[in-house]
Amino acid sequence: MEKIKKIGVMTSGGDAPGMNAAIRAVVRTCAYHNIDCVGIYRGYEGMMQGDFIDLNARSVKGIINKGGTFLKSARSIEFRTKEGRQKAYNALRAANIDALVTIGGDGTFTGAMIFNQEFDFPVIGIPGTIDNDIFGTSHTLGYDTALNTVVEVIDKIRDTASSHNRLFFVEVMGRDVGHIALNVGVGAGAEEILIPEEDLGLDRLLESLVRSKESGKSSSIVVVAEGDKIGKSVFELKDYVEEHMPEYDVRVSVLGHMQRGGSPSCFDRVLASRMGVKAVESLLDGKSNYMVGLLCDKIALTPLDRAIKGQSKINKELIRVSDIMTT
Ligand code: F6P
Repeated sequence: MEKIKKIGVMTSGGDAPGMNAAIRAVVRTCAYHNIDCVGIYRGYEGMMQGDFIDLNARSVKGIINKGGTFLKSARSIEFRTKEGRQKAYNALRAANIDALVTIGGDGTFTGAMIFNQEFDFPVIGIPGTIDNDIFGTSHTLGYDTALNTVVEVIDKIRDTASSHNRLFFVEVMGRDVGHIALNVGVGAGAEEILIPEEDLGLDRLLESLVRSKESGKSSSIVVVAEGDKIGKSVFELKDYVEEHMPEYDVRVSVLGHMQRGGSPSCFDRVLASRMGVKAVESLLDGKSNYMVGLLCDKIALTPLDRAIKGQSKINKELIRVSDIMTT
């Protein structure tokens, strides 16, 4: 393998708090090892168009605390084609970039893996998504911040819910996994948590709400993961409960993209810094086609194909904890 002299860094897919901190860590680790670093704008879209910017240690000052990604992000259709990837390869070679750090989720890693296979181009991935749906890491970048953001919002919803004796369905992000819902549900003391991994069923939901009312609770919060298996939207759930339990005054709150914004938590900043260092140093050690992750508080590498194909499992203990806490 040729000696690496210039590394490209990009963010792709849904943005997540901590992406800027990870870019900063990649750039500064390159500077530390006296190699060049180039930022690639708008993920694979910018890569195909050669939309690059030279970055040095000072270019990334003042961004560790900023949400979003200053390199911007995109989901590229063209990069899924062989022609698109050839264009990207040509642009990277023209700029003398000889390795890549890609920060994103499984779509980003799938693109990186195919690109690596086709062009033997060294790549290392850093998991950045609020969903925490990547195998090979206990935490993805942005997940911890999103949990804190959502808990803070649900606390506020609880204030108004209890003032009016209302039931709220709060929909949270997470695509097909329930990590956010389960953790914020426990953290904010939700009466019920609906996640894709468990099909609670409508009858059990009603039973649980009856129990909650009988136990003297004045308000109820039901956290619903956007990919929940009951198969009804939060608005349909509201209609269903109102029809079967007219005594409940029900409201819905869909939290949406505010969950992806905001200043990263200290945990995400530290994680981003550790992952950025490991990503660059792995490339310099001749490693490629791996994802950097956090396992048992150690930074560890997982082959990209395992990270993509493996399943990131929810912590089932939390379901039981939640059941006990809502007694
Ligand atoms: O993957 C991150 C995520 O925020 C998911 O939780 C959500 O389902 C999806 O992205 C939303 O994507 P978009 O920003 O394209 O609407």
